[in-house]
Amino acid sequence: MIKISELRSDFPILSQKFNSKPLVYFDNAATTQKPKAVIERIVKYYSEENANVHRGVYKLSTIATDCYENSREVIREFINAQKTCEIIFTRGTTESINLVATSLYFSGILQENDEIIISEMEHHANIVPWQICCKNLKIKVLPFDGNGILQVEKLESLISTKTKLIAVTNASNTFGIINPIEQIIQIAKKHNILTLVDGAQIVPHHKVDMQKLDSDFFVFSGHKIYAPTGIGILYGKEEILNQMQPYHGGGEMIDKVTFEKTTFNSLPHKFEAGTPNISGAIALAEAIKYLEENHFPKLIEYEENLTKYLQNRLSEIDDIVIYGNSLDKLPVFSFNIKGIHHYDLGTLLDSQGIAVRTGNHCTQTIMQHFGIPGTLRVSLSFYNTTQEIDFFIKKLKTDIELLRG
Ligand code: ALA
Repeated sequence: MIKISELRSDFPILSQKFNSKPLVYFDNAATTQKPKAVIERIVKYYSEENANVHRGVYKLSTIATDCYENSREVIREFINAQKTCEIIFTRGTTESINLVATSLYFSGILQENDEIIISEMEHHANIVPWQICCKNLKIKVLPFDGNGILQVEKLESLISTKTKLIAVTNASNTFGIINPIEQIIQIAKKHNILTLVDGAQIVPHHKVDMQKLDSDFFVFSGHKIYAPTGIGILYGKEEILNQMQPYHGGGEMIDKVTFEKTTFNSLPHKFEAGTPNISGAIALAEAIKYLEENHFPKLIEYEENLTKYLQNRLSEIDDIVIYGNSLDKLPVFSFNIKGIHHYDLGTLLDSQGIAVRTGNHCTQTIMQHFGIPGTLRVSLSFYNTTQEIDFFIKKLKTDIELLRG
């Protein structure tokens, strides 16, 4: 049995007040709060272990290098990748996708007039890099239905001989819906098409398994899984990563440099030019250890109950329009109240200490689908409670009355 009150005390920010009210933090899809273990690990690194990695023969540099490389192994094990060299440290999901897009183009694996397929519910981070990397790349879009469910039955009809890649989010940051990603990967494989999965939202809430999933690329951010900002992961199969040109050049990613020509280091270093975010990588491994020590499957089960509880309580609200209805859902709910602007509600909730996200959630194409400027989004973590949900619903009801006059 997990004790949520004990877990909450691991997160110093949860006992802070904002607007003189105890914080109710319901914006976990944007970023999660950090446990003491992660914060203290960063302090320990800078107090006792700080040096550049892979660059010195002296003891301290060896310690820093070992901590950094051991973290890579912790992450490999967590996502069950086959090889440690398949784990590349990046700044986050966005950089990971930019790396893949640019590098596939540099390597000639993606060419002008090729086609890729993404879904209609992608975050801007899985739309814009493809548009930037290759001007004449044709982007086809797999639509979702009125409930936000991907119309996977239409995927085959979008595939042509020019389709090189299918890049889809595992779970929508706006709807919270979990997509049938295994089915999409199977279809892609049948046609020898590469796949990239945006795992930013799924990783904090579900156990993922790279060997089972069998996607060519899988990307996620540390800060959404209780680690600091500025660290993220690109998982790629060794075979395809070996065919790809580096995306950034600089120190550590090289084998031999002359003024005429440079040969590159082996994986994973080929893609990690410059001094990496060493403390971020170490803190990400610490965040993973924290989840595992606290029985991650139990935390997931608790979050699933919290999701159902919130779903039920939201259904009590008159004139609510929830975007994205599915049984297979993360604790993420986007909605509007008819006749009320989401910013007004968000501002009133903030005055009561409740932090929610308002706006388009970096998914303008979803907003275009529904013809709305934005929504209010509530997203939970295992440190949230049913009492917080009750308080939120109570305040939501009174705020709606207030705004209706
Ligand atoms: N991708 C983050 C969100 O959905 C920032 O809020």
